Amino acid sequence: MISTEALLAMAGRAGDRRVEVLLRGDDAAGQRAAMEAGFQREGIRRGALDGADAVPFARLPGDPPGPVPRLLPDLPGGELTDGVVTLRPLGPADIDFYAELHTDQDVIDTSVPPEPKSAEEVRLRCTWAESYWLAGTRADMVVFDTATGAPTGIIGLFYQEPPTGQAMVGYSQHPAWRGRGYMTRAVQLLSLWVYAETGIARLIAGTNPTNTGSQRVLEKAGFHQEAYLRSRLPGPANTRTDDVQYVLLPEDVLNAISPCAPG
Ligand SMILES: CC(C)(COP(=O)(O)OP(=O)(O)OC[C@H]1O[C@@H](n2cnc3c(N)ncnc32)[C@H](O)[C@@H]1OP(=O)(O)O)[C@@H](O)C(=O)NCCC(=O)NCCS
Repeated sequence: MISTEALLAMAGRAGDRRVEVLLRGDDAAGQRAAMEAGFQREGIRRGALDGADAVPFARLPGDPPGPVPRLLPDLPGGELTDGVVTLRPLGPADIDFYAELHTDQDVIDTSVPPEPKSAEEVRLRCTWAESYWLAGTRADMVVFDTATGAPTGIIGLFYQEPPTGQAMVGYSQHPAWRGRGYMTRAVQLLSLWVYAETGIARLIAGTNPTNTGSQRVLEKAGFHQEAYLRSRLPGPANTRTDDVQYVLLPEDVLNAISPCAPG
């Protein structure tokens, strides 16, 4: 693994030239070292390392010293928990659970696009998850039953619009764990983290108009319905589906935790 010190030494030797390092998508430790040393991420270079996609990082002489600021910080202590559910970052160890979850027809139907995932898509989703988190584009987490340590579902934050401060939450619960209030708890934990630890100003979520379960989760977590977007998402067999959109603002989080007493 490349270290921050080695990268700083490379940049020092380069004088007034640009220094670039190409890292594997699953080499999150290397990517962290690059960001520590002030190397900025520059997208994805397809098929660049042994035929696999890779992430280029570069440092120019005029760039500010590291570490490169992050839009999505690490979870405090590595997890979020309320004592009943625990959220931890998605990773390579979660491939089997992620694959099994995505064989459920309800999960497939509410995915974008609404299609089963190939084994390779599942592998990449899990092995690149930390890289996307470091990039500030998405934070995927597994929801665990705290008492047993069993994985119950997946929840993700997608930072779609950093310039306007708007991000979206999405989730799926394994059928065996539905109806216990776990996804409501997970959405609440994620929302608290978003408003306590990131610069996000608007947290949105969308559901299919018939998905009353998901709408209930959002309402119980303090979200408010704000829009009905016609033909917003790709549906099955080249159709389009409408999307009921919800929003949670920082003040809604506080109200959901401690509702205001009347008067
Ligand atoms: C939607 C989903 C995430 C809910 O997960 P969950 O862990 O069962 O949710 P919770 O137990 O926290 O349920 C919260 C509330 O929703 C209600 N609810 C859950 N599923 C429901 C359903 N299918 N129909 C009606 N209400 C439902 C629960 O009864 C509960 O309300 P209550 O406390 O007033 O009884 C889960 O059903 C799922 O993964 N579905 C398939 C994928 C999906 O729809 N993802 C969301 C895409 S927007």
